[in-house]
Amino acid sequence: MLVSAKEMLQKAKAGHYAVGQFNINNLEWTKAILAVAQELNSPVILGVSEGAGKYMTGFKTVAGMVKAMIEEMNITVPVALHLDHGTYDGCLKCVEAGFSSIMFDGSHYPIDENVAKTKELVKICADHGMSLEAEVGAIGGEEDGVIGTGECADPAECKMIADLGIDMLAAGIGNIHGKYPANWAGLSFDTLDAIQALTGDMPLVLHGGTGIPEDMIKKAISLGVAKINVNTECQLSFADATRKYIEAGKDLEGKGFDPRKLLLPGTEAIKETVREKMQLFGSVGKA
Ligand code: 13P
Repeated sequence: MLVSAKEMLQKAKAGHYAVGQFNINNLEWTKAILAVAQELNSPVILGVSEGAGKYMTGFKTVAGMVKAMIEEMNITVPVALHLDHGTYDGCLKCVEAGFSSIMFDGSHYPIDENVAKTKELVKICADHGMSLEAEVGAIGGEEDGVIGTGECADPAECKMIADLGIDMLAAGIGNIHGKYPANWAGLSFDTLDAIQALTGDMPLVLHGGTGIPEDMIKKAISLGVAKINVNTECQLSFADATRKYIEAGKDLEGKGFDPRKLLLPGTEAIKETVREKMQLFGSVGKA
């Protein structure tokens, strides 16, 4: 059964660890992430961007697949199915499709409009028992063609959005989606500290989890981050393992071209990345 992310994140914030949001792209991704969450007895959030939803033919397909996998793989740890960086319309579609959590990314709107739209979604989510993530201060880098500049959020604006009744808050603290450039300045812990001072118990979300050094991840968790999003790192692990398989000519041996064989090393590589992240975030054994 899918659950909202509310309870797992409140527990994480109180227990000083973070729950990983791992983005899914297809069946192999989903299967790999669910298997590791169960193996490590960890709560997990499956993230779906609007682009990934479209790729999988629509949000209903995604919700149907995830719900059936939870049943047929005998998954008993808490799993939330969460829209990542949703538009207002995308959020409504995921409510209808049976997701258990959504993120409304209104960070590119003027703050008043972000507040107004987030407020409407707070009510809709409450009516459906779903959790809601809101964003203040664009996260840098490019995701699904949306390019952000990597700003630091205004703590006062964070407080305004946090007070609307959302369940988790993504705030830009110099983080970027995708690989970090060599000249990246690092996370702004002063900003994070100031945001937590004003938002109290609100679970904070760190986007762009790929490539953030371990000590910065641990420090961010100590300053109130309770959810960390990872996408690119699983893609890189999958691509690397698949490349090795092909370059070793394995697809040309016997039935090595069978997709169930061809996609296996990549799937196992995703599993290893998810294991490492869950251990680093401290969510192992917290289901
Ligand atoms: P990365 O692709 O940098 O891991 O970021 C993932 C993310 O923040 C999804 O919202």
